[in-house]
This record gives sequence, C-alpha cells and structure tokens, in this order.
Amino acid sequence: HVEHDIDRTQPLYTEEQIQARLAEMARQIEADYEGEDLLLVGVLKGAVMVMADLARALERHVEIDWMAVSSYAGTRSSGVVRILKDLDTSLEGRHVLIVEDIIDTGLTLSWLVANLKSRGPASVEVATLLRKPEALEMPVDVKYVGFDIPNAFVIGYGLDFNEKYRNLRSIGTLAEHVYS
Ligand code: PRP
Ligand code: MN
Ligand code: MG
Repeated sequence: HVEHDIDRTQPLYTEEQIQARLAEMARQIEADYEGEDLLLVGVLKGAVMVMADLARALERHVEIDWMAVSSYAGTRSSGVVRILKDLDTSLEGRHVLIVEDIIDTGLTLSWLVANLKSRGPASVEVATLLRKPEALEMPVDVKYVGFDIPNAFVIGYGLDFNEKYRNLRSIGTLAEHVYS
C-alpha cells in the first residue's frame, strides 16, 4: 500500500490539514482579487493536486492553464529553465497567479515569474502549498504560502520521489524501509 511508505514518526500533513489550509488561502485570494479576472497557472506535474483542490476551494470564476518546465541539467545553479509545454493563453493585461506544490531552491519559480512578467500581464503572483525557507537560493516574492517546512525530502499530494508517490492524499517523508 502506497501510504505504508510514509514515515509516521516525522511531521505529516494530512488530507484534512491540507484542505483546511487551502480553504484559508482561497478566502485570501478571493478577497485580494475581488472584481478582477484571474488566471491560475499550474506548473506540471507537481502542482496538479494543489491546483485541483485550490481551484475548487475558490467560490469565484477562474481560468486555469498549465506550463511544464525543466531545469537544464548541469546548469541548475544558473536557474536556466527549458519550457516543455507553454501556456495556451495570452497573458496580456491579465492577473496571473502561479500555483506550485513546493518552493525548494526557488530557481524554477524565479525564472518562471520573470518569464511570465515579460508577457505583459497586469500582475504575476505566486501561491504555493509548501516552502522550504532553508533551501532558498533565489529570492522569490510569494504571496500565498500554505506551510513553511524544514529542509527534508517530502512526498505525496503531487510531490514525487522518482515519479512515485504523487497520488498520496497526505504529505510526508519517506520511511527508511523504502531506501534499504
Ligand atoms: C519540483 C516542484 C517544484 C520545483 C521546486 O518540480 O514541483 O516545481 O521542483 O524546486 P526549486 O524551488 O528548487 O526550483 P520538479 O522539477 O521535480 O518537477 P515535477 O513537478 O514534475 O515533479
Ligand atoms: Mn514541479
Ligand atoms: Mg519532481
């Protein structure tokens, strides 16, 4: 069972805790963007679960679009990113909210924010469920943060380890028996 690979001795965010925090973030987003059109941009693949639940927690109209990006191997520290799938939508004059599962070094996101800002939007902000303050290498202005977490490898709820565990309903760290 996939849930058995979670380390229960370590901090864990349950399905209920995640949904409760997303509901709080949704109320804040509704207030901040009242009377404005809003485009949510999800970053594949990790943000799929956050997008699905955050978008449904919003009691207002939004549009949803997706990007897939990949860091160039070997030049990761430069924060150079390759677009694997671009947006279908123009950002001209639009309020854009990037939706992420986690900000780790911030390299992906700092590049993405600059890239989207160059497309003539009215605004570009970021919502992330998780952030690791200790791992941050590039400063990124993040308007909505679900939880700040320690610098440990987390899985579940979209977050993968070698592409596995994305379908877990909760977020945790991997149990030792997975490695050994
Ligand atoms: C993960 C995560 C964020 C990014 C954060 O994505 O979903 O998008 O890394 O890392 P950073 O802050 O150090 O840039 P990943 O590249 O693993 O792709 P995935 O979403 O498909 O798992
Ligand atoms: Mn990702
Ligand atoms: Mg990943």
